[in-house]
Amino acid sequence: MEVQGMFPPQSLSAKFEGSFAYLTVRDRLPTILTKVIDTLHRNKDNFFKEYGGTGVQAEKRAISFLSKLRNELQTDKPVLALTDNVKDTEAWNQYMQRQQDLMEDRQPASWFKSPWLYMECYMYRRIQEALYMNPPMSTFDVFKEGKTQSFFESQEAIKSLCTYLQELITNMENMTEMQLREHFLKLFQVSLWGNKCDLSISAGQDNSQRSSSLDSLPDRQRFILVDDSNKVWSTLVAAQECKASGMKHARVDIVLDNAGFELITDLVLADFLVSAGLAKQIRFHGKSFPWFVSDVTKQDFDWTIMQTMVANHNWMSASGVQWKHFIKEGTWSYHDHPFWTLPHEFCDMAADATDLYTMLQSSDLILFKGDLNYRKLTGDRSWEHTVLFDKALRGFQPAPLCSLRTLKANVQVGLQPGQAEKLSCQDPNWMTNGKYAVVQFSSPHREQ
Ligand code: F6P
Ligand code: MG
Repeated sequence: MEVQGMFPPQSLSAKFEGSFAYLTVRDRLPTILTKVIDTLHRNKDNFFKEYGGTGVQAEKRAISFLSKLRNELQTDKPVLALTDNVKDTEAWNQYMQRQQDLMEDRQPASWFKSPWLYMECYMYRRIQEALYMNPPMSTFDVFKEGKTQSFFESQEAIKSLCTYLQELITNMENMTEMQLREHFLKLFQVSLWGNKCDLSISAGQDNSQRSSSLDSLPDRQRFILVDDSNKVWSTLVAAQECKASGMKHARVDIVLDNAGFELITDLVLADFLVSAGLAKQIRFHGKSFPWFVSDVTKQDFDWTIMQTMVANHNWMSASGVQWKHFIKEGTWSYHDHPFWTLPHEFCDMAADATDLYTMLQSSDLILFKGDLNYRKLTGDRSWEHTVLFDKALRGFQPAPLCSLRTLKANVQVGLQPGQAEKLSCQDPNWMTNGKYAVVQFSSPHREQ
C-alpha cells in the first residue's frame, strides 16, 4: 500500500527539513513554569498541613527541580532523559533518541533546536517529573486552581447552555430529522467555540466564557474557515441507521481538550447525541496527568460532573444528574491512554500505541477537540494551506474523524486557493489569535 505524504520523524526526508516550528525565547513556556513554581510556593502551608515536614521538603525539592528546568529551557540546554521510572518513561526516552538521531552533525538535541511540538509536550512531562520524583507531591495538580476558576467564571454561560439542552430533550420526541439536525449543528458549533477557552494560549490568564455561547453563534459563523459539519451529521445518521437493526451500538469517541467551559460544551453535545439516539455509547479520552495548563484529567472530568450536579440551578443540576447516570450505566466512559500525553504525531499511533489505534478503529466517529490535537493530526508541519486534510493526516485514519479547532498555532490545511492570502491581508495573526476556527472531516477509504 502506498501511503501518500507519510513521513514519520525517523524517515524525515531532506524535503521536509526545516518545516517544523521551533521554540523561541519569546515563547510563553518560561512564564508557565514561573507560574507553576509560584503555585507550589503558595501551597506550602497546605503541604505542611497535609504531610507535615515531609510535604514542605518535597515542595522545596520540586521548586528547585523546576527552577533548574526553567534555566535549561531559557539557555537552550540539551534535552535530558527522564529518570522517574514510571509507565511512560521509556517511551519518552525512546522518542528523545529518535529526535537525537535526526540531528545533523551529531549536535545534541536542545530546547531551541528541537521541534516546538516536542519541546512543548516535553516541558509538561518534565513538570510532572518534578512531582513524581518528590512524593507526596506526585498527585498534586499544579493547574487545578486555574481550571476551577475558569469553570466558576463561566457559570452563566453554563446555566444557559444546560437550560437549552434540557428544554431540547423535553421536546425531542416530536422533532423531525431536520429539526434535530438544526439543534445538532448548533451544539456542535458551541463545542467548537468552546475551544476558545483554553488557558495555555494565555499562559494561565483567565479565558472563560461569560456570555451565552448560543447567542454569539451567528456572529461567529463567518470565522469558520472550513465547515464539514454536514458530513459529520451524515456519518452519525448513517451509523445509526445501519446499526439500528443489529447488535452493535453506534459509538462516538471524543478526544477531549480543555476543562472549564469547553468540557461542559462537550458533555452537552455528548448528552444530545445519546438523547437523540444518534449514539448509544460515548467514550471520552482525556489526559493521565495535568497537561497544557487546562487539559482535562480524570479528576477534572469527575469534578465537573459533580459540580454540575450540585449547582443551585435546576437545569444545570438536572444535566449533572443525567451525566452521572450515563457514567454509572456505562453509556459514557472515561479513558486516559498514555499516548495522549506523549509527543508523538497521530500518524505514529498505529505503530507506537497499537492498542489505542485498534480501539479507535471500532468507533463510528472520532471527534478531536482543540488546537494541540490538530497539530498532532497534521504533524505540526508548515504545510501549504491548500494541502488536503486527508493528506496531512498521513495515513492516520482509524475511523471517520473530525477536528473541531480554533486556530492558535501556525498550521492550517484544507483551505481554498487564495483563502489564506486573503486572511493574511485582513488579519495578519489569523493563525494564532484564536478568532478563527475549522471543522474538518476525514473518512477512511475502505475497500468494498
Ligand atoms: O498557543 C499555545 C498553545 O500551547 C499551543 O501550543 C497549543 O496548540 C495550544 O496552545 C493549546 O490549545 P488547545 O487547548 O486548543 O489544544
Ligand atoms: Mg488544551
